[in-house]
Amino acid sequence: MRELAGSVALVTGGGSGIGRAIAQALAQSGARVAVCDINGAAAADTASGIRDAGGEALAVPMDVADETAVNEGVDETVRRFGRLDTIVSNAGIQIVHPIEDFPYDEFRRMLDIHLGGAFLLTKAAVRHMYPQGSGSLIYMGSVHSHRASPLKSAYVAAKHGILGLARVMAIEGAKHGVRSNVICPGFVRTPLVDKQIPEQAATLGISEADVVSKVMLKDTVDGEFTTLDDVAETAVFLAGFRSNAFTGQSITVSHGWHMA
Ligand SMILES: NC(=O)c1ccc[n+]([C@@H]2O[C@H](COP(=O)([O-])OP(=O)(O)OC[C@H]3O[C@@H](n4cnc5c(N)ncnc54)[C@H](O)[C@@H]3O)[C@@H](O)[C@H]2O)c1
Repeated sequence: MRELAGSVALVTGGGSGIGRAIAQALAQSGARVAVCDINGAAAADTASGIRDAGGEALAVPMDVADETAVNEGVDETVRRFGRLDTIVSNAGIQIVHPIEDFPYDEFRRMLDIHLGGAFLLTKAAVRHMYPQGSGSLIYMGSVHSHRASPLKSAYVAAKHGILGLARVMAIEGAKHGVRSNVICPGFVRTPLVDKQIPEQAATLGISEADVVSKVMLKDTVDGEFTTLDDVAETAVFLAGFRSNAFTGQSITVSHGWHMA
């Protein structure tokens, strides 16, 4: 299946986890992919893996919270590949504290990366998409775009904010042929989640096995983690959808943890 042949995609946080899986899946579907990450070596590793598999990829070191770096990375992608069809705003980190202990600078850093990064990437991308008359904006939300959990005030606030940004972009982008949607995964085993398991065990005073079964997967229908492939396939679907029929939506991929 090469439904994205001839198209160009840019993925942030493409050096690890979900972003890497999405970059690989978009490339397998025929897209040329700019792999952006604050960790330039990790971005280069993803890009060279894609090239080894016969795809086309460019590694772009980028801090998504740095407006100049985002603008330059987007422009470099268009210079190299000639156009921009899909962005996947995915880069993210996790910081958890009860609110009374949450340092404001850490709260702001979370908002800057997740929500500010999505804003900056959108602003840079539409400069190229609007004149083309087409584009797909894909944002990495979370079940935490719809639900709340303790200790995650910054993450939940940022992920809820992404829904708002995406809905505005569905309206503003429509007359330019630009669609805007959010993917909301449940827990996926990536470095971001693996780091939280011992942290939450210590904070909540329970075992790591209980963090997985009684906290993370408690409300799923089958006690299963969402997989990288589940999320990557959803991104390929959203990248390739043909009309504005599918815009302003959030798709939850979570083994039934959140049903919407
Ligand atoms: N893993 C999950 O269970 C899960 C669930 C729902 C949503 N998400 C979201 O998916 C996205 C990716 O998470 P993941 O689990 O793959 O994490 P990950 O830690 O495996 O990968 C995140 C990547 O983002 C990069 N990054 C961090 N800060 C950056 C910055 N300022 N600029 C550019 N790149 C930066 C990191 O270097 C890393 O390569 C995040 O937005 C996360 O909130 C993850």
